[in-house]
Amino acid sequence: MSWQKRFSDIIEEQRPLAPLTTYKVGGVAKTFLRPRSANELAELYAALTQAEAPFRILGGGANVLIEDGEHTRPFIYLDQMKTVTHDDEGHFEVEAGYPFLKLVNETVREGWAGLEGLAGIPGQMGGICTMNAGGRWGEVKDVIRWVEVATPEGRLVRLEPGACGFAYRRSLLPGLVARVGLKLERSADPAATRSRLASFLKAKGSSQPLKIPSAGCCFANPEGMSVGRMVEELGLKGERRGDAAISDIHGNFIVNLGQARFDDVLALMELVESSVKTAHGIDLRREVEIWRR
Ligand code: EPU
Repeated sequence: MSWQKRFSDIIEEQRPLAPLTTYKVGGVAKTFLRPRSANELAELYAALTQAEAPFRILGGGANVLIEDGEHTRPFIYLDQMKTVTHDDEGHFEVEAGYPFLKLVNETVREGWAGLEGLAGIPGQMGGICTMNAGGRWGEVKDVIRWVEVATPEGRLVRLEPGACGFAYRRSLLPGLVARVGLKLERSADPAATRSRLASFLKAKGSSQPLKIPSAGCCFANPEGMSVGRMVEELGLKGERRGDAAISDIHGNFIVNLGQARFDDVLALMELVESSVKTAHGIDLRREVEIWRR
């Protein structure tokens, strides 16, 4: 049986992708798959691997720039995998599709400490883990106990953090994240934890353009340097291509002022890359993934 037939009850056709991304840019997925459990994700992965069908896994759409037009590769979307459980000791088990912003807010509100430093980071648990998301106040790897990945053979394998290859804004995982085990602590002073969360959000809100669609920082910071500062010093802030602009607030953000197209955003990314290369001799590493058709 073809994988299309086998997974027909979780397939949608012609699904618009832009609304599922924080950039609000991108075309449509010809085939869009929504697995309902870790097991189904693993089965799907094995079936696509067997059929030699390259695919994409969308996550929360927070770190991708998707080309306009029709994408023929199947897209996997995990919005039906959002179970969270925890015990009294703060051992949380979070499915890959759970919205991370929500998890941070809920755990802090319920008196748990450990995620407040990751305030305001969009995306789903799986992508957050794969990117080792974080910033000035911590990285998600600091609270990860294990990661359960679906392998191309269709198994679910639980990995210790040491086997995940976590580094600055990346990991080396041998499969697709299905579920993540976190260790949070009962906050000794829940009100203080809540106000730490609020102060991090405030600091971010004053230095980053959070109210306008973007994919956050486009580039990883080279060791000891800030891309935002370099872009500012090069006079590139405010630079525009169509409705895409290099943010006036933070130079490492390219924002969508309305109807920005894939090509507009990419042109600005390339402008930053070539300008930084000329001025500093540095090849920037893209944090945002570019997905062509
Ligand atoms: N700066 C400028 N001009 C700018 C931007 C920044 O002069 O346009 C200066 C700031 O004044 C600051 C320094 O550069 O002194 C560093 O900037 P900032 O503190 O804003 O942090 P960042 O290093 O640019 C990092 C992460 C962010 C994360 C923040 C806060 C990277 C590439 N960026 O930004 O992550 O939100 O710390 O934790 O690691 C993301 O990954 O998408 C992202 C936004």
